[in-house]
Amino acid sequence: MTARPLVIAVDGPAAAGKGTLAKALAAKLGLPYLDTGLLYRAVARRMVNAGLDPAGDASVEAQALQQQDLARSDLRVPEIDRGASLVAAQPAVRAALLDRQRVFASETGAVVDGRDIGTVVFPDADVKFFITASPRTRALRRHRQVAGETPLEGSALDAAVSEIVARDARDSSRETAPLVQAADAVLIETDGLSAAEVLDKAGEIVALHHTRR
Ligand code: C5P
Repeated sequence: MTARPLVIAVDGPAAAGKGTLAKALAAKLGLPYLDTGLLYRAVARRMVNAGLDPAGDASVEAQALQQQDLARSDLRVPEIDRGASLVAAQPAVRAALLDRQRVFASETGAVVDGRDIGTVVFPDADVKFFITASPRTRALRRHRQVAGETPLEGSALDAAVSEIVARDARDSSRETAPLVQAADAVLIETDGLSAAEVLDKAGEIVALHHTRR
């Protein structure tokens, strides 16, 4: 019997290190990587570019989403961080994007990162991780990704922490597919851990799964 392709779910709040881990894990295992946050970001971008408020009905833009929308270079900006979490709270938007995510992983398997991968998109994923870190660590990491080594301190750091806490609150409190740790997900807290250390921990857990298959 051929084993079905391996699906690994990597969920958690913003800037916790999900993307870094998921990308490295995919490379290590020779699997494709899917960043599902990009789908919501691209829907928000289509809304903003059409002059629409991302808090309004985004279902038409979600259905119209094209592959090239995901390749834009202006998806990781503060306006779209916020817009993505507003469109992501809409059940019709999530429904429009669900199949796309499932189809991506069904033939080859994949490492998929997001908020609801282990709970909704792939509840039967082979291995599930929930990656988190304190809001301060996450705000500093996000800043480093965007602004390099320019320092973030004082009121600017406070504002960045507040923004990340507000986005988590929107993602965790929505009715459809809220951000929540799946009961069978392995929790990794990444404060004080390097990307390599997180990858080592996750790699050990995946290896354990392989020995049980
Ligand atoms: O992961 P990233 O920060 O790029 O995600 C942007 C936003 O998209 C999140 O704040 C969340 O609102 C939404 N999202 C989601 N479900 C996913 C992935 C992202 O609701 N699976």
